[in-house]
Amino acid sequence: MNRPAYIELPDSSPLNALKQADLLIGGESRPSQSGRYFETVDPATEQVIARVAEADRADIDAAVAAARTALHGAWGHMRAADRGQALLRLADLIRQNQAALIELESLDSGKPVSAIRRQDLPAVLDTLTYYAGWADKITGQTIPARPDALTYTVREPVGVVGAIIPWNFPLMIGMWKLAPALACGCTVVLKPAELTPLTALRIGELALEAGFPPGVLNVVPGFGGKAGAALVEHPDVDKITFTGSPTVGRQILRSAAGNLKRVTLELGGKSANIIFPDADLDAAVKAAASGIFFNSGQVCSAGSRILAHADIYEEVVERLVARARAIRVGDPREAGTAMGPLVSQVQMNRVLDYIQIGKREGATLATGGGRVGDTGYFVSPTVFADVGHAMRISQEEIFGPVASVIRFRDEEEAIQLANGTKYGLAAGVWSADIARVHRCVARLRAGTVWVNTFGPTDVRLPWGGNRDSGFGREHGDIALENFTEPKSVWINIGGAPRTVSLRSATG
Ligand code: NAI
Ligand code: MG
Repeated sequence: MNRPAYIELPDSSPLNALKQADLLIGGESRPSQSGRYFETVDPATEQVIARVAEADRADIDAAVAAARTALHGAWGHMRAADRGQALLRLADLIRQNQAALIELESLDSGKPVSAIRRQDLPAVLDTLTYYAGWADKITGQTIPARPDALTYTVREPVGVVGAIIPWNFPLMIGMWKLAPALACGCTVVLKPAELTPLTALRIGELALEAGFPPGVLNVVPGFGGKAGAALVEHPDVDKITFTGSPTVGRQILRSAAGNLKRVTLELGGKSANIIFPDADLDAAVKAAASGIFFNSGQVCSAGSRILAHADIYEEVVERLVARARAIRVGDPREAGTAMGPLVSQVQMNRVLDYIQIGKREGATLATGGGRVGDTGYFVSPTVFADVGHAMRISQEEIFGPVASVIRFRDEEEAIQLANGTKYGLAAGVWSADIARVHRCVARLRAGTVWVNTFGPTDVRLPWGGNRDSGFGREHGDIALENFTEPKSVWINIGGAPRTVSLRSATG
């Protein structure tokens, strides 16, 4: 096999120093105990960016031990308000270093810099500042249970958190987990995806600079089956927060049983975007196009199934095809690029396989359908029309720029089709009929329903799914539950201590 050459960066790039990256454990940058490294690649050029230390079970042990020590050390004794200040300092440092972070994220993942600048980076900062504000507002309740007792609850950090993240939004999804965990006073072992480990390591360094004590945030790049599995199985990890595939989600649930650690899972979807004939078609198709082609379709809530009413079906397909053809696919570093490559050769081949499956299943390939160029993992924006509900391209998450347009005849059928997959992450409804909108919102089985829009998320609003999309919610105050453990306190204030005696129990 040809070994790809190291990427050539412009002389001005701050990333030139970055040819080798080590693990971040207990505040120190160190090689893995095995001494092994793996290479991470720029999917736009197929060139190697850096060698990254590969964490294994022994390194996970060390990272978990460092996190446990930090939990009971300086971090555990810090005022909650000071935890919030530390999060704000991290936000400042990310802002100061954003140009390099954006470039690094783009190199490692193939995401267009323009999209990272417009969407991911602002979301990272918003997430940090939002949870910074929560740090000193995580309160319990006093609950008047009875007159001879003072009874109240406190909410303590759940402990050591293992965060396992995917490659589609490394910075943003990473921060969705880090910010609430740290605000709640937990310590974290973060395992980034093996395809995109670089920005997580940089965030770990910035956290140290921001004054987080060593061991509060440990970053351990490595492979899922080794580093990821070791973290999930670890008896001294209290909680796993995961975003990725349902297959791995199920594996995590089984492996977490050892010490019954708490688990939240965000596992993607096959989200329906329903367009009724009374919708603003221009707005609907515009949003439907970005709903499936944004980030090359590598989005958990991608609107991969566009359900169009029979009366407007042909028009929706035609307009969607026109929009797909107008998308500029290319160099993620160029400002005008709307769509970059897929993250890896494996992912590209998976998507190209699904395109073949769609053709074999008898769907009409309306546009796209192939690789773009022969260097980099680019796939053209693809639209399948005449897609049958039972087809695999209608049922399975492709995680690429492939839209399936499905015809429906009435509201009832639209709901049946929309709910008719294993997934339940998100759904969209386009209609001007307010009664219809409310009926649909009530019947759609999804964690989020968008009406006359598709795709926005906000850290203040719960995010997550049901069924094969996983369980638990991130974002908002609801995510604080993920990282805290309630403790009930009962203080006898009634004089003689009251215990349940055998005599009173038996009368
Ligand atoms: P994956 O689920 O294998 O990887 C996600 C993360 O889990 C990575 O950090 C990986 O190292 C880790 N991991 C893998 N196996 C593990 C194990 N046994 N124990 C603990 N951690 C483990 O996703 P993959 O293979 O990269 O992508 C495959 C498909 O998964 C995609 O085509 C897409 O359909 C879906 N996916 C969904 C995502 C979402 O946002 N919900 C994100 C990424 C992938
Ligand atoms: Mg990479």
